Amino acid sequence: MSVNIAIDGPAGAGKSTIAKKVAGELGYIYVDTGAMYRAVGLYFSRLGLSDGDQDRMASEVSGADVSIRHENGTQKIYLNGENVDPEIRTPEISRMASVCSAVPEVRTHLLELQRKTAREENVVMDGRDIGTVILPHADVKIFLTADPGVRALRRYEELIARGEKAVLEDIEREVRERDERDMNRETAPLKQADDAVLVDSSHMTIDEVRDRIISIVREKCPEEQAQQ
Ligand code: DC
Repeated sequence: MSVNIAIDGPAGAGKSTIAKKVAGELGYIYVDTGAMYRAVGLYFSRLGLSDGDQDRMASEVSGADVSIRHENGTQKIYLNGENVDPEIRTPEISRMASVCSAVPEVRTHLLELQRKTAREENVVMDGRDIGTVILPHADVKIFLTADPGVRALRRYEELIARGEKAVLEDIEREVRERDERDMNRETAPLKQADDAVLVDSSHMTIDEVRDRIISIVREKCPEEQAQQ
């Protein structure tokens, strides 16, 4: 049986950075489910769909064949056979991913890919509904969050470090809008699973968060205790 670790939380809480580190330390595969929604968002954006076209999103999603491959421990995301990693991190695709992720048919379209990966591999999977819907029996569930102002500042610093232009107020507004949409949609909203451990990273370094999660995994997972 594979070991499944679910990390859910809002945008910018540091899920992907931490999940990658935890997966690296445990020798598990890191699965970024947000990238799958981003690939679908890109597909819709290329079709020229906009926020209000939710009916068309429901009927067109079957044309988006999303798959993942792991190369040198890094997840690569493919849309109809094309590696789309370079295109899915823009503000437009972030918004489109959040909008289309509220469409039930889009969620159903990606659900089996996520469950199948978790059945076949030891995974650290991050997203919004992994502990609540995708892997309700995950061995370990973490809800990783941070104050919205802290999350916006981290995102701003990341963009500046990459040499991109950014306005902190705009990013904070986008973060709050995404939280609002992700938490208030009807299907699989972002929320902490009853049996998830809450980790608030607002005043923690990346290494502190990683160590905290590794210690939770070791506490809850007999497989990992044996390997200490
Ligand atoms: O984690 P991320 O920012 O890359 O996710 C992009 C969007 O996809 C996010 O706004 C909400 C959606 N998403 C989701 O609804 N369920 C998931 N499991 C992962 C992401």
